[in-house]
Amino acid sequence: MYKSFIKPLFFRMSPEKAHYFAMGCLSLLARIPFGAFFIRLIYQYKHPLLERKVLGLKFSNPVGLAAGFDKDARWYRQLDHLGFGFIEIGTLTPKPQAGNSKPRLFRITEDNGLINRMGFNNLGVDAAVEQLKNRKGLIIGGNIGKNTLTDNAEAKEDYIYCFKTLHPHVDYFVVNVSCPNIKNLDKLQDKDFLVDLLQSLQLINERQADSKAILLKIASHLSPEQLDEIIEIVSITKIDGVIATNTTTHRNNLKTSNTVLEQIGNGGLSGQPLALNATKTIRYLREHTTDDFVIIGVGGIHSPEEALRKLEAGADLIQIYTGFIYEGPGLIKNINKALVDKTKTL
Ligand SMILES: Cc1cc2nc3c(=O)[nH]c(=O)nc-3n(C[C@H](O)[C@H](O)[C@H](O)COP(=O)(O)O)c2cc1C
Repeated sequence: MYKSFIKPLFFRMSPEKAHYFAMGCLSLLARIPFGAFFIRLIYQYKHPLLERKVLGLKFSNPVGLAAGFDKDARWYRQLDHLGFGFIEIGTLTPKPQAGNSKPRLFRITEDNGLINRMGFNNLGVDAAVEQLKNRKGLIIGGNIGKNTLTDNAEAKEDYIYCFKTLHPHVDYFVVNVSCPNIKNLDKLQDKDFLVDLLQSLQLINERQADSKAILLKIASHLSPEQLDEIIEIVSITKIDGVIATNTTTHRNNLKTSNTVLEQIGNGGLSGQPLALNATKTIRYLREHTTDDFVIIGVGGIHSPEEALRKLEAGADLIQIYTGFIYEGPGLIKNINKALVDKTKTL
């Protein structure tokens, strides 16, 4: 139904309009009598074999919604009906910011991908806290960043503000220094900066009533040497692990023509073209770490097969974004069913 009726309608709109329209429809459906009940009936799939204990949390299934989709924590209650095991909000910054000028989100349908240069558009961390008050049940991750106008020399303070503000309201944290759409953000992937920042967050963590898991979201296409450095940073700072990977600036082996790519311009590529490299990154990290190093795998999961590849490569949990747009919410259930079937045959 999604691919034959709903997706063609959404894909006639600009991607950003379609996003808000889709979330408006979901919210409306969830509000009508028995609406939420029927959405859950259609999309949710529960099974004891799907349950996971990771980051000290009990996940009902390992399929999460990746950061960027519900940046302001506006729709997590409605998205919960679709059967996600967890939802990551953000990237949130201390102050609200509009992000880059539009258009800034593009479909490249021939490649089942998206290119975005959203630029951390969000209403700010304080507004997200308002949305998260009185939440129950669903596991929520808080993905944090810095304001675009904040100089890198002051970036640490931005992360600390977001961390402190969000601390009582989320279940785990993600430090995002790998978004390719914020000028000079990649400079924060420098080892000394990251060790200092993550150690400062850990100190704050220790002073709270309950400390929260911290993950680092890493860029795609990192070399083995860069991945070794990430492993070292995780070990020094004693954070819990990584989310692999963010979008990429690479444009290799795409079916989309160079003319179209040039018209689109800069931005982070997500979706199917990312799959292979993300899986390779996950496998490398798993082969070079012990089991307590948590890996959330993300990048190009558009099918149960790709989801299983990520889990077999060593991901503890997985996330989807572009696959959710192209395949629809049924993808979550299909992955979970395939996972149960696979586990039963082992
Ligand atoms: C429109 C869009 C916005 C995104 N915004 C964020 C963000 O704010 N923070 C972040 O860490 N990742 C963000 N991402 C990256 C995704 O969380 C994910 O890492 C990436 O898209 C790869 O997964 P996918 O191939 O399933 O989409 C965004 C991705 C897209 C497509």
